[in-house]
Amino acid sequence: METDAREIRDEDCKIDSKTYEEAKRRSAEIDKDLSVHPEKYKVLTGDRPTGDLHIGHLFGSLRNRIRLQNMGITSFILVADYQVFTDRDKVDDLQGNVRSLVLDYLAAGLDPNNGRTFIFCHSHVPELNQLLLPFLILTSTAELDRNPTVKEEIRAAGLHSVPSIMYTYPIHQAADILSCRANIVPVGKDQLPHLEISRKIARRFNERFSPKKTVLPQPEALLSEVPMVLGLDGSQKMSKSRGNTIRLCDSEDATRAAIKKAKTDSERLITFDPENRPEVSNLLRLASLCTGEDPKAIAERIGDGGSGTLKNYLTDVLNGYLAPIRAKRAELEKNPDVVSNCLRKGVERAREEASATLDLVREAMGMKYF
Ligand code: TRP
Repeated sequence: METDAREIRDEDCKIDSKTYEEAKRRSAEIDKDLSVHPEKYKVLTGDRPTGDLHIGHLFGSLRNRIRLQNMGITSFILVADYQVFTDRDKVDDLQGNVRSLVLDYLAAGLDPNNGRTFIFCHSHVPELNQLLLPFLILTSTAELDRNPTVKEEIRAAGLHSVPSIMYTYPIHQAADILSCRANIVPVGKDQLPHLEISRKIARRFNERFSPKKTVLPQPEALLSEVPMVLGLDGSQKMSKSRGNTIRLCDSEDATRAAIKKAKTDSERLITFDPENRPEVSNLLRLASLCTGEDPKAIAERIGDGGSGTLKNYLTDVLNGYLAPIRAKRAELEKNPDVVSNCLRKGVERAREEASATLDLVREAMGMKYF
């Protein structure tokens, strides 16, 4: 059962392409129905509070969450604080990270005052965490052994001894999702194996404990349309641990400096060619995400202006795009209670949901004694 980062091979982390294609197809279908029947859907998704959000998060997931919220869909946004401990021995300033994450959420446009967006941390929802126990009955150790996302995370963190909370991460994630009986989970491709376990748990629970009446809905992945935002080194995913990010809360000057240092190539003519010129194409794609203009059109306009012109342009449009978010964050930071009020309200609602689910679960399992 013990896995060591040194023993994990590439193919252990691969996500089956058939599963991916099938998830993409279902996701596209659901996406079409979301705005037609927002009342049918309940979203749960979230982040681990491991550091400030960057533009990879903003364009890759946060913008989509705000779109769903604004369609009128009830949205549970999880601050996955227990799960910070899955891949590290030392956790610095969890409180500060949670605060910063919530400020980023609010500044970007999640609105806990609209009556249908609930931002909560799962450490404060005991009923959610208790669901872990019935769910442990429904999963085998072999299944956890095979999970490619767990393998990838063990490898990325270089763990030699794997804590059980890493091992049971997908089961805990099922508890996150199923505690409020969410049916839509906006995630990236890398999270599909985790979601598959949540789907299996829901299915098995119903089959084993409540064959006549569905207690737990099978959640569906909503895959992001945006291709992965690369870091400013152009070669890998934007991520804090790789130091290739621009954070939402960075200053305009820091943003300018980071873009100035971004890797490009020596060709003067700017073209959009992700295959052969990943670095230049990534900068074009980022500019396009800010303005909505096609990256090829931006490239043509810049023409032989070189990477200096491209970088200046990206700096201007990105700083412009982030200006209202940064201003709102600065405003929110002045109020010391804004984060605690938001989380308190979110936790209250998450507990109502999770406690209703736990009641149904206990009843189905024959655990109603008084
Ligand atoms: N594992 C997710 C990530 O690393 C975060 C997460 C925790 C999550 N629980 C979740 C995402 C439930 C979606 C649903 O990004």
